[in-house]
Amino acid sequence: MSMNIIFASSEAVPFAKTGGLADVSGSLPSAIKALGAEVCLFLPLYRDIQDGSFNLESTGVKVTVPVGEKDIECEILISEAPGGVTAYFLKKDEYFDRSGLYGGADGDYFDNLERFTFFSRGVIEAAKALDIKPDIMHCNDWQTGLIPAYIKDTYSKDPFFKKTATLFTIHNLAYQGLFPPELFKATHLSERLFTFDGLEFWDKVSLLKSGIVFSDVITTVSETYAAEIQTKRLGAGLDDLLKHRKKDLHGVLNGVDYSVWDPETDSLIAANFTADDLAGKQSCKDALLKEFGLPTGKERPLIGIVSRLVDQKGFDIVTKAARKILKMGFALVLIGTGETRYEEFFRKLATENPKSVGVKIGYNEGVAHRIEAGADIFLMPSRYEPCGLNQIYSLKYGTIPVVRATGGLNDTIRDFTEPGGNGFKFKGLSAKALLDTLSEAAGLYKDKSRWKKLMCTAMKEDYSWERSAGRYMELYRLALSSLHVS
Ligand code: ADP
Ligand code: GLC
Repeated sequence: MSMNIIFASSEAVPFAKTGGLADVSGSLPSAIKALGAEVCLFLPLYRDIQDGSFNLESTGVKVTVPVGEKDIECEILISEAPGGVTAYFLKKDEYFDRSGLYGGADGDYFDNLERFTFFSRGVIEAAKALDIKPDIMHCNDWQTGLIPAYIKDTYSKDPFFKKTATLFTIHNLAYQGLFPPELFKATHLSERLFTFDGLEFWDKVSLLKSGIVFSDVITTVSETYAAEIQTKRLGAGLDDLLKHRKKDLHGVLNGVDYSVWDPETDSLIAANFTADDLAGKQSCKDALLKEFGLPTGKERPLIGIVSRLVDQKGFDIVTKAARKILKMGFALVLIGTGETRYEEFFRKLATENPKSVGVKIGYNEGVAHRIEAGADIFLMPSRYEPCGLNQIYSLKYGTIPVVRATGGLNDTIRDFTEPGGNGFKFKGLSAKALLDTLSEAAGLYKDKSRWKKLMCTAMKEDYSWERSAGRYMELYRLALSSLHVS
């Protein structure tokens, strides 16, 4: 009999996205299904999903979920996710009919603990009501971190989940879902779980810690990050716990969906191209320069950035180095949103350098694709990076990644001086290290034939999901076997 997997996530392409978690949740389930498992995806029904054109239908199933003093009734809707995966949506407008996923202009929503307590327990109740008996609950990040705790505690005697194991994937250890202790009772978990060994973290409720403590297997999205989060520097206060669970912690590199991110078929870019016929790449560069109001026809390397504008992504060193980067003869296009100081910095940089810097503050899928396609270099000097997807997309578009050697950047990019080099990689978190590396890139860019060779190596890289999906299947089996032991 095939394995039955419930994949619970707070975002998934094409339904709702704030970052890479959505790309993964939108593509990994179908890759797992392709290996013969039964997979369904559970998501909250956000406003944009309700208003979008996703052919939502009612399942006719309703569940009641206790949250704090309330019994919350919700309806389960159904639609199809990519690759023929069934997607279920928990409809509770009071929680999810809002403009954002986790917050608005004034910061995080005040009731996020309630919202994701509801979602986590709702997924479990919905599975029962829909009669989907899961072998595996695959949970992702803090928003679903309570599911393993419910399975191990509240539902431990429920025969329906007797053979259900849990796997928890950490996409970013820095986002922990921390809430004041007085909110713990809203979860209806036993009081004895609110301890150091449970989901208490410096007197706060930590939903991420819940996922780490109570799941059978823990994964994170690259091998280097799996090692890094066991150190003080990148352990975000959870390094001792992660070391303690070391034997259950595995790094599985994300794959990408080449049906969305491939210059040969991408319908959002100016011209299609391949490693064998690169003519379209120049058209994409010209169109991108025009879209950002920059002059065309200059023989200068164009750096692209698509990113959340936050410290994680190394913007402190980028802002320090920016003016020198321009002096070196680069042009720059950027799309991003995030911290005000970075948004203001880049707006000002563009105003001061109208011929060499183009900036869009905002979120736009089409522009992201066009930067991937039209830039020569993709810059991603992250302070830490669990996996990172943009550098992997860049490879496919022949846009050479310049990255810091951390997390998934370290595991996907080989420096051009190494055998099979596909980009540029540096270690130090400093403006100098970044500038030195960009200067090497500028040098190589002038040597057209070597640069083209580098592009072709990059474009031939294959980071499709197949390998990693197989790895998840092995880990699902491992999680199931751990049930028999305990
Ligand atoms: P993270 O999840 O940490 O933000 P990833 O590299 O894993 O980083 O994934 C980011 C995803 O979000 C990519 O698909 C990227 O193209 C997209 N993205 C980020 N910022 C923007 C933006 N301003 N406009 C469009 N897409 C964006
Ligand atoms: C997180 C990480 C990013 C990773 C993504 C998907 O947002 O910051 O590095 O690629 O999750 O796993």
